[in-house]
Amino acid sequence: HEDTSLEFIASNLDILATILPERLLKPQVGIVCGSGLSTLAASFRERIEVPYSSLKGFGISTVHGHKSALAFGLVGPGDGVPVVAMLGRFHAYEGHSLSTVVYPVRVMARLGVKDIIITNAAGSLDPALPVGTIVSIRDHLALPNLTGFNPLLGPAKPQYPRFLPLSTAYSHSLRRTVFLAAHELGLPSSTLGEGTYAWVSGPTYESPAEGRFLRAAGASVVGMSTVPEVLAAKEEGIEVCVLSLVTNFVVVPDGYRSVREEVEAELAGRPLPPVPQVEVSHEEVLAIGKEKGEVMRSLVEKMIELLGKS
Ligand code: HPA
Repeated sequence: HEDTSLEFIASNLDILATILPERLLKPQVGIVCGSGLSTLAASFRERIEVPYSSLKGFGISTVHGHKSALAFGLVGPGDGVPVVAMLGRFHAYEGHSLSTVVYPVRVMARLGVKDIIITNAAGSLDPALPVGTIVSIRDHLALPNLTGFNPLLGPAKPQYPRFLPLSTAYSHSLRRTVFLAAHELGLPSSTLGEGTYAWVSGPTYESPAEGRFLRAAGASVVGMSTVPEVLAAKEEGIEVCVLSLVTNFVVVPDGYRSVREEVEAELAGRPLPPVPQVEVSHEEVLAIGKEKGEVMRSLVEKMIELLGKS
């Protein structure tokens, strides 16, 4: 796949040139739509959707709530800013290689994308970031990257730096744009937070001990996507912005109740109150995406407008 991907990208540029009018062919901003957030492209003007299946090198997104197309269009007043959105992304947990996961970002780079806004649904580890909050990501904690699972593993390529620095991975300038856009929209300050994203491979949600571990390590939210795309975008020289929508709170109880004590108390005729059994579900994640998708859409749109002016 890796060896053929440059040829695939070149032929995709040829395919797109036959489908798209000139003004849509050179998008300035790329968007990655997270779970339940495909409506981010709903208000593109002159929107044209190109299914991944009509392009080369794309995987097939198998996750419920994700589409499988690139959406091209214009955002903002006047001529508008040309943009491209991924409706449906690829995850390692679907069995995709990390090079397949990041491939669409490389296509965007070749189309000329300068800034990318990557969205996702995430679980919160921080009580100050309740369900429904949009979190502007400033840093990440990627256990897979620290343990030999990194999309940039492989022979050095002359066009890329070998040892990519990540201290500036989350563009300071774009993080400012997030808050300037929120201000222009008059969003209440509680709508928007800042934090660190922990990337886990999934598909399992975190165990309570894992949730405690990530929180203790400094993560604010946790999810199963985004970081591979961030790394590829950074490698391609694209400015990166990540917005996480908190769809659930990660179950992180302070400790464990002893079942021995529970059984002994029951046998002694003094039963303890039951412990609630809480579980997160994908349906809950999608429902919050649907509920808050409009806020995310207006924020992303306003950001693009501001980027068009700068
Ligand atoms: N954990 C991991 N990924 C997620 C979660 C979560 O709690 N919520 C949405 N994506």
